[in-house]
Amino acid sequence: MNLTELNRIATAMVASGKGILAADESSGTIKKRFDAIGVESTEENRRDYREMLFRSKDAMSQYISGVILYDETIWQDAQDGTPLIKLIEQSGAIPGIKVDEGTQALPMCPGELVTVGLDKLAERLKKYYERGARFAKWRAVIDIGSGIPSMTAISVNAHALARYAALCQAAQIVPIVEPEVLMDGDHDIDRCYEVTQRVLDKTFQELRVQRVALEGMVLKPNMAISGKKCAKQASVEEVAEKTIRLLKACVPAAVPGIAFLSGGQSDEEATAHLNAMHKLGALPWGLTFSYGRALQAAPQKAWSGKAENVAAGQRAFSHRARMNGLASKGEWQSSLEQKAA
Ligand code: 13P
Repeated sequence: MNLTELNRIATAMVASGKGILAADESSGTIKKRFDAIGVESTEENRRDYREMLFRSKDAMSQYISGVILYDETIWQDAQDGTPLIKLIEQSGAIPGIKVDEGTQALPMCPGELVTVGLDKLAERLKKYYERGARFAKWRAVIDIGSGIPSMTAISVNAHALARYAALCQAAQIVPIVEPEVLMDGDHDIDRCYEVTQRVLDKTFQELRVQRVALEGMVLKPNMAISGKKCAKQASVEEVAEKTIRLLKACVPAAVPGIAFLSGGQSDEEATAHLNAMHKLGALPWGLTFSYGRALQAAPQKAWSGKAENVAAGQRAFSHRARMNGLASKGEWQSSLEQKAA
């Protein structure tokens, strides 16, 4: 393992003014997104859609540090025969790959999930590295509800995240460690804070036990935020203040960067929250976005599967990428949203 090089990549992934495009929707998830815009989820449509994003020159070269791909995409070619991964490299962004294989029910723990995909992971990482991937992603899912999460779910998911991270570093690939506490429930922000704290503590404990070099990883957490169905929604300032307090308490300064998931927040909320965090003063790590929905909902709608809408889709993507790029420096203002509309 070359830790200097892993650290260089991890640091580039969270460079100020830039963030990560999570375009790694599994076939099931992208079908859901395409259903919403009336587009059939064929291999060709998935390719055309992602090619549109990766050819968005302004967004890709100025605001996107890296792109997380799904297995299908990393082997796909653009319409003119150029591998899609080459388009990403040519834009100056770093290609990455989702390597978990989704979730399964966790035995003995009703309603809870464990992320799978460790078997043969070492071999798969080798192939992805040869293809050009320089970082990877593994997402654990923790749900909040009555009586959950259990310590069992937190523990087995943290163990798997650390196993994955160690395998990545041995393969010279930077692991994005993503323990996502879902925002789907009716819990308030303080319950989210408390659960996320337990999850992050356990995750870093396992990373240490399994000898993962913190300097060569990126953390992808949820924010401390109210559940979507909670009657009392915390303000932007409260989300920012509590998220930073939580991360400062749980994430060692040796970690080069933190890149948030959007998790179901609206486009503008995800931007406003990141921006507000950067208004709170200096931070020990890079802090940016690794958004899926909050970067892609607008371009998906603008494109709607029609070749004549590609330019509009690229404009919508560039706008969201720029807004989040500004937020990653605390330089975003809501008035910038209207101007572009
Ligand atoms: P969202 O931003 O849509 O939550 O997706 C980010 C991601 O990569 C989830 O694993």
